[in-house]
Amino acid sequence: MDNHMIAVVGAGTMGHGISQVAAQHGYEVLMWDAAPGVVERAIGIIGDRLAKQVAAGKLPESERQQTLKRLVPVTRWDDLASASLAIEAVLEVMEVKKEVFQELDRVLPADALLATNTSSLSITEIAKVTRRPGQVLGMHFFNPAPVMKLVELVRGEETRDDVVQRAETFAHSIGKETVVVQKDTPGFIVNRVLMPLFIEAMRILEEGIASAEDIDKAVKLGLNHPMGPLTLADLTGLDVDLHVMDYLYDEFHDDRFAAPMVLRRLVRAGHYGRKTGRGFYRYS
Ligand code: CAA
Repeated sequence: MDNHMIAVVGAGTMGHGISQVAAQHGYEVLMWDAAPGVVERAIGIIGDRLAKQVAAGKLPESERQQTLKRLVPVTRWDDLASASLAIEAVLEVMEVKKEVFQELDRVLPADALLATNTSSLSITEIAKVTRRPGQVLGMHFFNPAPVMKLVELVRGEETRDDVVQRAETFAHSIGKETVVVQKDTPGFIVNRVLMPLFIEAMRILEEGIASAEDIDKAVKLGLNHPMGPLTLADLTGLDVDLHVMDYLYDEFHDDRFAAPMVLRRLVRAGHYGRKTGRGFYRYS
């Protein structure tokens, strides 16, 4: 990016993961969240995570300190005015995202890029609320963002070629690999492949065919995946997974994406997976 200053809007799991990677690669990161205290908590989590790497001899303490210094909590939209790229990682709710993009469009410089980390929503629809739809695109990171190599770059209808190239250059500068999703399509590539896998694993559980542990073990060892699908669903967040499935189902009208009742019941009970301490598994 032109001035090595970016904004990350939303400091939940994805927001703080993205902030950490960018700061570790030399970017100053302006961190904003609607809820008070969330950014400070996120910086605390990043500090603890980096401290573990220092303790394991994988990171010099000086680098930890420098990374933390590059994370700048901000509270007003106008504080984001120097960023040349904003990455939005707020709730997967279209109306919330539209409000955020209106503010970003108002305060960021005219040539700045506005990216959304949405995992499935329409880039075109988000871009439409701005005066610069050509400079809006999807930059979809994966959980855990500091570790996962991929960023899906997703074009909206109006996204310009040079904007995709600038986003690609940025992603490479923070150590990520990219793929370009040429059409704004629900679920892009990864979630379109992943959700049917989650759904089938949940149906096998629901039908009493195998235990959660055995379903995960089967996929891990039988397909050489690093995690079984139910463990991974707990990691990505069952609330997020359900949201993505419902959106794909609404868009495609296809039973491949119909969310299983076992998932709906867990989400209704507030069991969102690892982040709430309970999902398909319990976490202490
Ligand atoms: N945040 C930051 N770093 C983390 C982390 C986290 N939540 N979890 C693990 N790590 C780091 C560890 O610190 C460790 O780093 P070092 O090598 O520097 O020590 C490294 O990752 C490996 O961790 P572990 O040895 O503890 O465990 P592991 O080897 O089993 O790897 C894993 C953990 C990387 C999460 C691995 O199990 C994995 O790749 N799982 C699949 C993850 C995946 O598929 N994510 C995509 C989800 S889909 C999505 O995100 C899209 C969506 O829109 C829903």
